[in-house]
Amino acid sequence: MKDCSIALIGATGAVGQVFIRILEERNFPASTVRLCASPRSVGKKLKLRGEMVTVEEPTEQLLSEVDFVFISASSSISREMAPVAAKQGAIVVDKSSAFRMDLNVPLVVPELNPEDLDGHNGIIASPNCTTTPMVMALKPLHESNPVTRVIAASYQSVTGTGAAASDELIAQSREVLDGREPTHEIYPHQIAFNVLPHVEDFLENGYTTEEMKMQNETRKIMHAPDLRVSATCVRVPVVVSHCEAVNVEFTDPISPGEVTEILANAPGVTVVDEPQSGVYPMPVQSEGQDDVFAGRIRKDLSMDNGIAMWLSCDNLRKGAALNAIQIAEEMLQRGLLK
Ligand SMILES: NC(=O)c1ccc[n+]([C@@H]2O[C@H](COP(=O)([O-])OP(=O)(O)OC[C@H]3O[C@@H](n4cnc5c(N)ncnc54)[C@H](OP(=O)(O)O)[C@@H]3O)[C@@H](O)[C@H]2O)c1
Repeated sequence: MKDCSIALIGATGAVGQVFIRILEERNFPASTVRLCASPRSVGKKLKLRGEMVTVEEPTEQLLSEVDFVFISASSSISREMAPVAAKQGAIVVDKSSAFRMDLNVPLVVPELNPEDLDGHNGIIASPNCTTTPMVMALKPLHESNPVTRVIAASYQSVTGTGAAASDELIAQSREVLDGREPTHEIYPHQIAFNVLPHVEDFLENGYTTEEMKMQNETRKIMHAPDLRVSATCVRVPVVVSHCEAVNVEFTDPISPGEVTEILANAPGVTVVDEPQSGVYPMPVQSEGQDDVFAGRIRKDLSMDNGIAMWLSCDNLRKGAALNAIQIAEEMLQRGLLK
């Protein structure tokens, strides 16, 4: 693969820290890596490939000096910085929701729709951490037997909200165990020893923005504009890895055995499904792993052509940093770097 230079905006965050680890693990061919964060962190030193690297401000000049700019900060930072970096000729791989539904921006999971990268205009979006695991399982099934309807419930870890939410869960757990009143800043209610059917903001239609992402992003990635998706997104007191209960309706009958076989052969998916022996996907097992884990594959008794399944996926890896790095690897392989 061609050697390149990169900048990472959000290097001190939950996704940024995992991103740095994955660069090293995959030996990503970057000769230069510039680490950037907010003014609060400028001057701090972060370990990268065995060396201490100073955190910088993501200036226009810095963004003009690299081939790839990865942004994992916030949607507003992406809206501000992505067009600047793209104008300077860099390829932006954005982890936020800012551009995902923009018709001029490919929304890519490299195992599923790498060809969408070909017509890019400088900005590539990486999906939401609940969409990616679901679509990794749905797309290979859809290719064999078109999916008509999906009902999903997510069980999302707190690192999905960022590093500060993880600190809040741990601090609250201590407060509750010590018999003190739990304090909360990040979530509207206590998250320790609780579950919140509330991920992001409520919309007029009664769904949340996170739930609508699961519908809209899935349709875009699968090139299935009419796919019916209804999601309920739930925050649970788990530090890393999102789980999802997914019920899928197909055009034609399909057996759990057929689904298992398709998923077992799908790139980036591992089937873990021996429920009688207590073997099924769980956050403690998928944390730190690259694949999406699928199990509890069974017939959905409520519909003719339906399957129910359970997924678990490290939200910081395939749900975020890994997918972004795979996008860049795919672009290098396709010769899309000018
Ligand atoms: N967490 C996930 O599972 C996940 C999954 C998919 C997508 N995402 C998306 O990825 C992005 C980052 O999420 P996260 O969980 O890593 O959040 P986080 O832990 O809160 O980290 C935010 C990062 O953004 C940096 N930042 C804040 N203001 C900045 C500014 N003005 N200029 C430059 N950098 C700034 C922060 O730097 P300081 O440390 O200096 O404040 C920090 O490095 C978000 O858009 C999120 O929606 C997250």
